[in-house]
Amino acid sequence: MKLLLIFNLLINSFGHQGDKDVPHGIVFVHHGLHIEIQIDRKNGRNDIAGIKDVIIESALTTIVDCEDSIAAVDVYDKIQLYRNWLGLMKGNFEARLMQGHKAIVRELRPDRIYNPKTDNELRLSSRSLLFIRHVGRLLYTDVILNNDNQEIPQGILDALITILIAVHDLNDRAKDKIKNSRKGSIYIVKPKQHGPEEVTFTSHLCNRIEDLLKLPRHTLKVGIMDEERRTTINLSACIRESEDRLVFINTGFLDRTGDEIHTSMEAGPLIQKNLNEKHKLVYGL
Ligand SMILES: *[C@@H]1O[C@H](CO)[C@@H](O)[C@H](O)[C@H]1NC(C)=O
Repeated sequence: MKLLLIFNLLINSFGHQGDKDVPHGIVFVHHGLHIEIQIDRKNGRNDIAGIKDVIIESALTTIVDCEDSIAAVDVYDKIQLYRNWLGLMKGNFEARLMQGHKAIVRELRPDRIYNPKTDNELRLSSRSLLFIRHVGRLLYTDVILNNDNQEIPQGILDALITILIAVHDLNDRAKDKIKNSRKGSIYIVKPKQHGPEEVTFTSHLCNRIEDLLKLPRHTLKVGIMDEERRTTINLSACIRESEDRLVFINTGFLDRTGDEIHTSMEAGPLIQKNLNEKHKLVYGL
């Protein structure tokens, strides 16, 4: 009880879990981020205040990747990828894995409810907001062949299928459905765009898919990876081309490095950065 009093005096408490007088969780908010102090007299018995754990809200968004951090190279990989995304968007995703000899199931954690059964009952998501990253514009795939028996652009396939799947998240508004978007949007990360023309292409593709699926204009939100020189030198034009959808600009360091090498290798010998005295001796500088 003393502990609760002190907390309330020191910081604005935002809510509690369990009984008001004997809560098993107290949550605080700072700059819009939540901190939950979990209290459990049984499992927290080494602590005189009974504190079992402190959960700090962080990593507000997570990218589910169709691109470089996975290796989806054939039709089976792509289907598995789309199936995982389907589970995440329907809220019924399950992953079964072995921990030692024990089989465990990972699933999506439901929302946390604070101040239950009071006028200011509050609900916080227990999950970070999911973005889906499509592959870049240059890749083709044989998952679908066109009329001429040629591979189709993989980025367009990713866009169409993952957005179609994400409509589940927008349509099922049942109270206990595990939802991703809190605002009725679908969040996309588009990598490897080379300058404003390619950003315009992405915007047009989003318009076309919204029309096809009868989604309100600008339901699709896009984060731009700034990782190619033509994007970096003309970032303001890239922002203008996507201003109604843009949710972030992020630097990708691997593609950035590749692009630097590719662009600079034609320009003649380079002087390395951060040369120390020993290196200068070796290179005779
Ligand atoms: C930046 O992009 C705009 C729009 O595509 C174009 O008109 C302009 O020439 C570009 N500037 C540079 C420096 O590439």
